[in-house]
Amino acid sequence: MPTLTADPRLQGRAVKRIVYTEEGLAERVHELGEEITRFYPDGELLVLGLLKGSFIFLSDLVRQVQRPLQVDFLVASSYGEGTISSGNVRLLYDPETQLEGKHILLVEDIVDSGRTLNVLMGLLMERKPRSLEICALLHKRIAEHLHYDTRFVGFDAPHEFLVGYGLDHAENFRHVPYIASLA
Ligand code: IMP
Ligand code: MG
Repeated sequence: MPTLTADPRLQGRAVKRIVYTEEGLAERVHELGEEITRFYPDGELLVLGLLKGSFIFLSDLVRQVQRPLQVDFLVASSYGEGTISSGNVRLLYDPETQLEGKHILLVEDIVDSGRTLNVLMGLLMERKPRSLEICALLHKRIAEHLHYDTRFVGFDAPHEFLVGYGLDHAENFRHVPYIASLA
């Protein structure tokens, strides 16, 4: 692993510490894949990634699942006051795949307030899936707005602003292969 100041991907941005290393992430994602494989013994499984944050996690995760599955994505937009998620969530891209009768696994990068997921879960429920579960790589455990259980969680995250492995700050740092806390 490069030393933090020397990592050219960080644009000279100060990073407090590496919270999850590439190796630690790979190990946990492998375990999550095994959990998911065991959890769904039968039926059609559709893994729905919430863009953009989940794109790296999802691509690593599905390769650790040892059963048939399909992949699609959701693009949600929360509009309102800037970076604070307002709960006013709208689907910009709706999956083309039919959801009715399928096991749906919604994959999210990080659960913060839980507002986005809460609205999306409601919308997806209306499509009559056979089951609907959430898999989040990180959970800050402060999601007072999420009224659904998060079945699969990679790590309980510290209450810091994290970047890398799909997580961004102003659209930067998504490609960083580890997860770091911004200073
Ligand atoms: P929520 O609706 O408040 O749970 O917002 C969740 C979304 O906020 C995530 O999908 C991320 O896109 C973003 N987010 C929350 N915490 C962080 C963080 O620490 N780093 C980067 N993005 C974050
Ligand atoms: Mg984001």
